[in-house]
Amino acid sequence: MGKLDGKVALVTGSATGIGRATALLFSDEGAKIVIADYAPKEAKETLAMVKDKGNEAIFVEIDVRKSAEVRKMVDTTVDTYGRLDILFNNAGIMGRWIFGGDIDELDLDDIIDTNLKGVFLGSRYAIPVMVKQGGGVILNTASTAGMVSLPGQSIYGASKAGVVMLTRTMALEYADMNIRINCICPGGILTRMSEPDPSGTTPSFRQPQPMRRFGTPEEVARLLLYLASDDASYVNGAAITIDGAWSTGFAKRPPKRPAS
Ligand code: NAI
Repeated sequence: MGKLDGKVALVTGSATGIGRATALLFSDEGAKIVIADYAPKEAKETLAMVKDKGNEAIFVEIDVRKSAEVRKMVDTTVDTYGRLDILFNNAGIMGRWIFGGDIDELDLDDIIDTNLKGVFLGSRYAIPVMVKQGGGVILNTASTAGMVSLPGQSIYGASKAGVVMLTRTMALEYADMNIRINCICPGGILTRMSEPDPSGTTPSFRQPQPMRRFGTPEEVARLLLYLASDDASYVNGAAITIDGAWSTGFAKRPPKRPAS
């Protein structure tokens, strides 16, 4: 018996990285999966990986920055599977490594629209469905950068701090409706996002780590499985770090100014 038998889970940003690992683990645990992403090639690979195991999944091509598309993502989930039990708002981008005084306004819009507005929109359309069906679980991906300052990533950090507060506030708003809303704050996870930038302008996130290694998307997926399942039935409004102790103080060092 799987921990998510009979559940329907929608995972944004599941073409690669943490989202893909989560889609695979949730499907192994019995959930029907909706893979939602704006990168169709990799998303279809995730879809094939789920189906190759004999599990059920569909792919919806959507951009989390666009309200109509996010609404379509939720509608398609309900039209296909009849319900939505778990929404994982995970799609995110990091943006260039640049200090606040030099940030282009369009870059700001892109980061905020993807990382913060995208999480809001997913929740906005999923919550009425969950209220109607008598409950559900929402998981959001924040970041350690939303908890400790990361020079060169002020807007990314602000977007993720926003996700933490959106999570905590919405959790309180819907706590009496059997909807649990939690977020994770990863750091130092081996995905495409943490790869060194080939142009060399962005220092790699793959800096020295307290545990002398990086985390894997599969390790993050196991935390998400716990939060999505009934094992976490009283965990609500939490922001849980998964960063090998990086945000405890190890992260604090003098800011390195990007070359201008
Ligand atoms: P990734 O780059 O492999 O995954 C991001 C996914 O989001 C991709 O599949 C991408 O196509 C999708 N995506 C981006 N913008 C989108 C949009 N507008 N609409 C639809 N899909 C979109 O990187 P990773 O690491 O798996 O990232 C997942 C989440 O984890 C992100 O929110 C990221 O900010 C967060 N995170 C990652 C950390 C790490 O160390 N890798 C640390 C802290 C947070």
